[in-house]
Amino acid sequence: MIEKKLFDISIIRPEMRAEDSRLRREGVPAKRLRSIKRGLHTLHTLETMAVNIYKFQITKSANEVNRQLITAMCNEMTHLQDFQVKLFEYGFKPSKLRWMYWIVGFGFGFFSRLMGKKAILKTGIWVERKAVGHYDELLRDIEWDEETKNIIEKDQADEYGHIDRWKALLGIKS
Ligand SMILES: [Fe+2]
Ligand SMILES: [Fe+2]
Repeated sequence: MIEKKLFDISIIRPEMRAEDSRLRREGVPAKRLRSIKRGLHTLHTLETMAVNIYKFQITKSANEVNRQLITAMCNEMTHLQDFQVKLFEYGFKPSKLRWMYWIVGFGFGFFSRLMGKKAILKTGIWVERKAVGHYDELLRDIEWDEETKNIIEKDQADEYGHIDRWKALLGIKS
């Protein structure tokens, strides 16, 4: 089991300052660059899917589930920004196939919404569990720069937070 750092996951959208942006490609060996590219594409497409799941789960009712889904959607939008920025900082482009993940995310979101609150929350838990597993693999297998690694760890902590919030709304103890 990898030791997890503690993050404040009540911060939904961390601050990014003008000086935080870096050009990261230079001096990185080709083989390492290839693995970073593969990892960032995976993360960026996963987050594309995650934004859509929550976006299409939200209904018009003024209730606590919707309030938390909106917050989770915003959080996933920051994750998407995180990895899109890192792709370009490394001189890469987003995957050309990411629209497929947009559609999958729409499907999960839309169809779980039709089935009601329980299905919405259970879908969230199922997808987030898959996501944290992916994050673990990518953290283990790829040699990241420190800043990117820290972002991946913070975003993974957010995904664990989503699981906990959906469980709480379902009345399941963590
Ligand atoms: Fe995410
Ligand atoms: Fe998430």
